[in-house]
Amino acid sequence: MKGLVLSGGKGTRLRPLTYTGAKQLVPVANKPVLFYALEDLVEAGVTEIGIVISPETGDQVQHEVGDGSQFGARITYIPQAQPLGIAHGIKIAQEFLGGDPFILFLGDNFIRGGIVAQVDAFRKEAMDAQIILYEMQDPSSMGVAVMNGDGRVQKVVEKPKQFISPYAVIGIYMFGPAVFDAVNNIKPSARGELEITDTIQYLVDKGLNVRAHNLTDAWVDTGRIGDMLEANRLVLEVMQAQNHGTLENSVLEGRVILEEGARVINSKIRGPAIIGKRTLVQDAFVGPYTSIHHDCTVRNCEIEHSIVLENSHLEDLHTRVADSLIGRNVHIQRADGHAQTIRFMLGDYSNVGI
Ligand code: DAU
Repeated sequence: MKGLVLSGGKGTRLRPLTYTGAKQLVPVANKPVLFYALEDLVEAGVTEIGIVISPETGDQVQHEVGDGSQFGARITYIPQAQPLGIAHGIKIAQEFLGGDPFILFLGDNFIRGGIVAQVDAFRKEAMDAQIILYEMQDPSSMGVAVMNGDGRVQKVVEKPKQFISPYAVIGIYMFGPAVFDAVNNIKPSARGELEITDTIQYLVDKGLNVRAHNLTDAWVDTGRIGDMLEANRLVLEVMQAQNHGTLENSVLEGRVILEEGARVINSKIRGPAIIGKRTLVQDAFVGPYTSIHHDCTVRNCEIEHSIVLENSHLEDLHTRVADSLIGRNVHIQRADGHAQTIRFMLGDYSNVGI
């Protein structure tokens, strides 16, 4: 079995971060969300992996993932000139995939329990496709499936306006070779994309064996800031404490990970939290569910339930930062002048809560 990971697309919902970076490279517990997908595939015994990349962010993805040897995988990059849809990603990967069954993994999807059980079920039974369902109160921003009662899929609709079922179709799919007939025959949707939901519906309408696996562990589509923070919570919740850094006159409470060269001075860190390589935390409080990436500074301020990307500096804020996603090379510090003055230089689509 091969793997196909989609890491192109536009990432509009995570602007401004995605103006300069791929959304699949935003870190969850200091590791790009895309890496979890690659690790899940390798854990399920899938090491021959194609990654669909876009002209805008493909270089960054290639730089981070390389030839895949760091994951024990072999990576082939498949450029997609325009984001013409998830099913379009399959279409352009046809030569790479050959006639083999494969797993399609959307690079911004995070699943905590891995995919071994689902892949085993797919391997055992002769299915043409297997989708994974996740029960939600409001699945209207996802593909949604209706089942027919005997484990077969009856209907799949992309972002339905009216409630048809509580089962969101998560972005991890398993297909046999019949899927190529589908992606070569469906037409673009109203939003101009070849939809994965139309692909699945095509297989269902042909009477093929399309089944669903119900997920019980956690899953997150990391499209928005709240979803990134949730994925970050899920990973930090199960990480073990580790100390590869240095501590001076400071207290670590609960599960805290200090990566190599992290320095904590006159501070308190209440886990679960992770402090990246060479990051300095000084005269500060870092609260639960916080990931601070490498080469950052957190000085004279408090931060909790937040993600800070690499090389960013928060200094002398004398206030608590919470529920935040802070990009790369960001500086937040006290402005000179009047005590009530706040000075900003923010990129397009920045979002500030005061
Ligand atoms: O997360 C699950 C949902 O993913 C499913 O329930 C939906 O049925 C499915 O259409 C998809 O919905 P999204 O609107 O979230 O898809 P998005 O445009 O965010 O793309 C998902 C991933 O695929 C993302 O990592 C970008 C990548 N992608 C997307 C498109 C459209 C590509 O690489 N190329 C593309 O052309």
